[in-house]
Amino acid sequence: MMDPRLVQIQERFREIGETILVGSGKGGVGKSIIASTMALIMGGLGAKVGLLDLDLHGASIGWLFKGLKTEESKNGLIPPQLLGVKAMSIAFLSEERALPLRGAAKSEAITELLAITNWGKLDYLIVDLPPGTGDETLTALKLIPEPKGVVVVTLPSRLSGVVVSKLMDLLRALDVNVIGIIENMAWFEQPTRRVRMFGRGVGKEIARKYGVDFLGEIPIDPALNVAVEQGAAALLRTRFARALEKIIRRKILGRSRRT
Ligand SMILES: Nc1ncnc2c1ncn2[C@@H]1O[C@H](COP(=O)(O)OP(=O)(O)OP(=O)(O)O)[C@@H](O)[C@H]1O
Ligand SMILES: [Mg+2]
Repeated sequence: MMDPRLVQIQERFREIGETILVGSGKGGVGKSIIASTMALIMGGLGAKVGLLDLDLHGASIGWLFKGLKTEESKNGLIPPQLLGVKAMSIAFLSEERALPLRGAAKSEAITELLAITNWGKLDYLIVDLPPGTGDETLTALKLIPEPKGVVVVTLPSRLSGVVVSKLMDLLRALDVNVIGIIENMAWFEQPTRRVRMFGRGVGKEIARKYGVDFLGEIPIDPALNVAVEQGAAALLRTRFARALEKIIRRKILGRSRRT
């Protein structure tokens, strides 16, 4: 017999316009902050947006969404909202406890999260993927019907290039669309000059190698983490958010409208 949750997931996604996943393969490159800020920016542009955190261990939409609670309804859990963005994370359910999950249990948790969340109608669902190419990512790619694609984040370093290429190979093998590559922390602004990071250009190289779009660069923003602690409105005023907004307007929203 078919798992009834799979039917439910299909039904939920019928209400969702486009699903954009943010991934890397590499840890600590800014996936979560990019996914969260992207959701807030797109929400600010007038779209109905959801943000789904699939990081079961380091549930990482973090500070920004701390303390938010889901609400129960007959048709599943209603995600809490921040500046109009609906957000869902395993952290809302597990709170501070560590989740000792591995293998099949992880796939179960992702399936459950996708089935239980009552997003309602959305224009966009942004999915924050955990690092690596493990169960969470594979399950998400299997269960989410026809995602728009993956925004792949890299750092300007050779190591990052190598790890990110593994995700690119996996996405190619699974025939998942790549929306494009973002190089995060690509440069650093000083009062007198712009300092290029050592491996700047790795993002462009990956894009060329795999024949996908290079979406743009985001600078290191020393004020970012302070802003995150101050909240969503402060985050949206950062240099980081401005660089990301440019990418979203030019490269993601511009192209994602189906005509
Ligand atoms: N452009 C940037 N400028 C300054 N700090 C940044 C920038 N991008 C990300 N960071 C910071 O780097 C840290 C890691 O970011 P984040 O948690 O989003 O990465 P991640 O790829 O989701 O990590 P993980 O692999 O653990 O899920 C955070 O403290 C974040 O605020
Ligand atoms: Mg993360």
